[in-house]
Amino acid sequence: MEQTEVYGDYAQYLPLILEDFTKEIVSANKTVKEKTGFKMYEHLIARIKAPDSMAEKCQRKNLPLTPKSALDDIHDSIGIRIVCGFVDDVYQTIAQIKALPQVTIYNEKDYITNAKPNGYRSYHLILKLQTPYPDILGNEHGSYFVEVQLRTIAMDSWASLEHEMKYKHEVKNPEMITQELKRCADELASCDLTMQTIRNLIQDK
Ligand code: GTP
Ligand code: MG
Repeated sequence: MEQTEVYGDYAQYLPLILEDFTKEIVSANKTVKEKTGFKMYEHLIARIKAPDSMAEKCQRKNLPLTPKSALDDIHDSIGIRIVCGFVDDVYQTIAQIKALPQVTIYNEKDYITNAKPNGYRSYHLILKLQTPYPDILGNEHGSYFVEVQLRTIAMDSWASLEHEMKYKHEVKNPEMITQELKRCADELASCDLTMQTIRNLIQDK
């Protein structure tokens, strides 16, 4: 199978599912903003995993290059990253997403409460989304996996820069770099706590 065909006939549905779901989240944000005066999140990035990246991931995981591998064994063909101003907003947004009727939680990992050893912080949700489109299992109104990553602006800036630097392998002192990156992540987490406290004070909580 050609790499561009790893999603098979289902490729056509992925952008539609992503668009529908993004609209739901954008509209929830708007509702919250109207009610409370505060937005749930600052910005949102939505993407379909490029077929060549998906093919590479299948190979890395020793899965055959089939739509079944791409859509059922791997859960991030559809991905949304939601970047919030404050830590409390991350949890608020998670609650809003969980309350959507078409959403079932398949898996969740709280790397905010339990940061990864390298300092990475983020909240990961794998959702099963009920859609009007056919799925790989033959359901007419099928389900699709969606990966949602939620983080603060500070966590997002760290993750972006760390991700960028991961691919620069010719460093002389990797242990020191790892240690410094971890220290930086912890300092940003401390700032997030302070910013949250400041906002709570302003809002008289
Ligand atoms: P896959 O990596 O998708 O096989 O799943 P997993 O079970 O290992 O999930 P995990 O929660 O570890 O990571 C999923 C995604 O989170 C990754 O594809 C990255 O986008 C992001 N991520 C996880 N760990 C890191 C990290 O240390 N640094 C950065 N920058 N991103 C990370
Ligand atoms: Mg991983």
